[in-house]
Amino acid sequence: MIPNKQDVEAMKEAGRIVATVLRRIREAVAPGVTTNQLNQIAIDSLAEMNAKSAFYGYDVGHGPYPGNICASINEVVVHGIPSERKLEDGDIIAIDFGAEKDGWFADSAITVAVGKIDAESERLMKITQEALGKGIEQARAGNRITDVSRAVQEYVESHGYSLADDLFGHGIGRRMHQPPNIPNIVMPGKGALIEEGMGLAIEPMVNMGRSATKTLRDGWTVVARDGRRSAHYEHTVFVGGSGPEIMTVE
Ligand code: MF3
Ligand code: CO
Repeated sequence: MIPNKQDVEAMKEAGRIVATVLRRIREAVAPGVTTNQLNQIAIDSLAEMNAKSAFYGYDVGHGPYPGNICASINEVVVHGIPSERKLEDGDIIAIDFGAEKDGWFADSAITVAVGKIDAESERLMKITQEALGKGIEQARAGNRITDVSRAVQEYVESHGYSLADDLFGHGIGRRMHQPPNIPNIVMPGKGALIEEGMGLAIEPMVNMGRSATKTLRDGWTVVARDGRRSAHYEHTVFVGGSGPEIMTVE
């Protein structure tokens, strides 16, 4: 079913809110700032914009998520829980944030440098962001999800990095997570057909080292097993009649 103009506008509004909050958080990132302080920016912004967190209380079977953002520092791949930990000069931090506005969801992530970072971390962030762009280019009606996965995988692996195991992008719209699954690597089989009107959250998580991950005992925090750094970028994309439209921009 192709959403009408009003629905697309509502999706865009949710996307704009997410982008605005991520910008505010990016601007606040600095050595000495805690991830709880970044989380508070999300809480305050949501209240101001009359929107709801898509993450807070979200339960995938091991208890409700306690944060409004995910704050994933260095070797943390995704789902880092906000805490009193202070950012340090040279860290990289992935901020993942999702919101619901008038029944529509948007979800996006960025990775941000804290102070002065090393050249290899800079490169990891750049390649990850570009890989997201390669995936988005393939989000066209008539393509398959496999085309998105292939574009991301080829770009990342040709630059010597790996895609974190067992983490996926997803369909998005009236719910944060809905079909189709969007793997960042090519999976066996044909892959779902991309159709006009779909909302897709495309999100490469790229490891500097190996792809293996593990989840810490808090049930959420996913880290790279080899302890090397990881970056994450995500956009919510609407498959329009004439190609992909990024929703999570201001
Ligand atoms: N962007 C992440 C995802 O798509 C956010 C989920 S965090 C959670 O899975 F807390 F909401 F689970
Ligand atoms: Co997501």
